[in-house]
Formats: sequence, C-alpha cells, structure tokens
Amino acid sequence: MILCVTLNPVVDTTLFVDEFKPNYRTEAREIGHLAGGKGNNTARALVGMGLEARVLVALGGASGRHLAELLDSDGVETVAAAISGETRVAITVVDRHYEQRAFFAPNAPFTGDDIASVRACFDRALEGVEAMCLCGSSPTPMADPLYPEFLHRAAGRGIPTLLDTYGEALRLGLEAAPTIVKVNRSEAANLFKRRIDTVNDQKRALDDLRRGGIEWAVLTLGREGALLACGDQYLVGRPPEVVSVNPIGSGDAMTAGFLAGLIHEKSPEECFRLGMAAAVANTQSWDACHLTMDDIDPLVDKIEIGPL
Ligand SMILES: Nc1ncnc2c1ncn2[C@@H]1O[C@H](COP(=O)(O)OP(=O)(O)OP(=O)(O)O)[C@@H](O)[C@H]1O
Ligand SMILES: [Mg+2]
Repeated sequence: MILCVTLNPVVDTTLFVDEFKPNYRTEAREIGHLAGGKGNNTARALVGMGLEARVLVALGGASGRHLAELLDSDGVETVAAAISGETRVAITVVDRHYEQRAFFAPNAPFTGDDIASVRACFDRALEGVEAMCLCGSSPTPMADPLYPEFLHRAAGRGIPTLLDTYGEALRLGLEAAPTIVKVNRSEAANLFKRRIDTVNDQKRALDDLRRGGIEWAVLTLGREGALLACGDQYLVGRPPEVVSVNPIGSGDAMTAGFLAGLIHEKSPEECFRLGMAAAVANTQSWDACHLTMDDIDPLVDKIEIGPL
C-alpha cells in the first residue's frame, strides 16, 4: 500500500468544446470530472499500474463529497479529513486541438481546526503503508509545518517518503529529509532564487536539494526530460519524441513510477526509467494519470538514460 497525501485537493472539471468562440455562450460536447490534486493523480496512476494506493485528503462540502466519489471510482482507498470549507473546484475548457484554459475557484479558508483534523487522521492513513508521497500545494501558510511533521512521522516508522511541493512547504519539507525530493525546474529556481539553465546550474541544484541527507533528488525539465542525483551518480533521462495531448500531471505520474520501483526494490536507474515512462505515457491522453501498464510498458525501453 502506498499513501499519497494531498492537503489541497481539487475537483477537476473539464468542458470539451469544439473551439473557443468570442460568444456569450458555447455548448460543450462533453464534460468530465477527475479527482485532482497531485497526490490524487499519483494514486490513480499507481492503481493503473496494478498497485494499491490510499490517499489522505482534506475534504469539505458538496465538492468534497464529489471528490470522495471520484476517488472511489478510481479504486483508491480514501482517508478523508473533514474540513469546514468547500473543497476546491477547477474548470478547464479545452478545444479539439487541446488548447486549454483553466479557471480555479478561490480557496475556502483553512482553519486551525481543519489542520487539527488532518493531523488527527495521519496515523490511521499510515497504517500498513510501504511508501508515502506528500504532494502539491499547502492550503494555507499555517499548514506548511504539516509537511516536515508528516515526513518525520513516516520516517519514524521506517517508511520511505517522496516530497513534491513548492514554496515554503518545500523549504520546510526538505529540512525533514525525505528519501526522495522531486521538483520541476521553476520550483527549484524559485527555491534557490537563481536560474537553472546550464549543466553546472543543474548539478548545483541537485546537490543543494540533497543537502541535509536526502538520498535521491529528481529535477524535471518538461519535454527535455529529467535529472536524477543519487549516491555519486548524476543521470539524465530523455523522453522519445512524442506529440503531447496534455502534459499536466506528468510529474505526478513520474512520482507513481518512482514509488512503484522503490517498493519493488528496483535500482535507482530502473525507478527513474519507470518514472520517466509513466510521465511520458501521461502526456498521451487528456485525463491526468489515467494510465495502465499497457500505456507505460512500450515506453520503458524508449527512455534514454545516460550520465549528466
Ligand atoms: N511534452 C512532453 N514530451 C515528453 N515528455 C514530457 C513532456 N512533458 C513532460 N514530459 C515528461 O514528464 C516529466 C515531468 O514533466 P514536468 O517537468 O512538466 O513536471 P511537472 O511540472 O511536475 O508536471 P505536473 O506538476 O503537471 O505533474 C518530464 O521529466 C518528462 O519526462
Ligand atoms: Mg510537479
């Protein structure tokens, strides 16, 4: 069982239209709903890969109930921390060329009681877990300290962890030394307040991410691929040329691949390859992390991995 924690989940609704028109009214061809938020995406990918996944999510209101239903239909086990406000909703409008515009409802206030509710669910969520990922944004600065706290509590039980967030939650989380940290280029650039362009910049960022005893650092570069630092190895992974339908959630698919490899005791390079293959597979369809091994397997040997 792999636990995916998302403190700030979202009901992702997509309206599929033929084209963006400058009209007051546009009829959509189709509507789709997805359990969004990074840990929820990762959990869906893990289930698609044949693994068991549990999520810990903060849920409130009618949209929270909707999200719980969506998670259930994904085959994901849910530990729901009840919160006072409505769970977030986002609406994406996408045309037939996969041009997209996303609109996010404002976050409901996240109170001290809501934080206590999430904290109180954590031990139950951790029951029988082999690996944990802590993913996505923090709902309020007051909740940032939950990131290092949850990483410490998992480590205290010998559970390997992966951290994928940004801003202050990332900074605090790094201090708790997760097993793996995975960030994209702009998240790392914002953390270190410097550009990450050259190979030297990249190596320095990987080193700085690992300060404090983090075993693996992963830096993703969108269509250019990703980098892994582990032990004294620096690896670069390059995806094959693909036509991307929707890259959103590729980082979350990569997290699923890494964790799947990790619990099967694969080498870092094999975990990286599986993570990259899952990430590229994610770009090939609209719904984030709606994947099976049939989508991932053909890509595994197409990932080029070499020294950075
Ligand atoms: N257009 C693309 N073509 C091929 N592979 C891609 C493309 N976009 C992303 N990927 C793969 O997905 C990985 C993660 O992408 P990216 O760096 O965009 O992560 P991210 O910003 O964390 O994504 P998200 O937060 O939406 O999940 C990349 O390392 C790459 O392997
Ligand atoms: Mg990401």
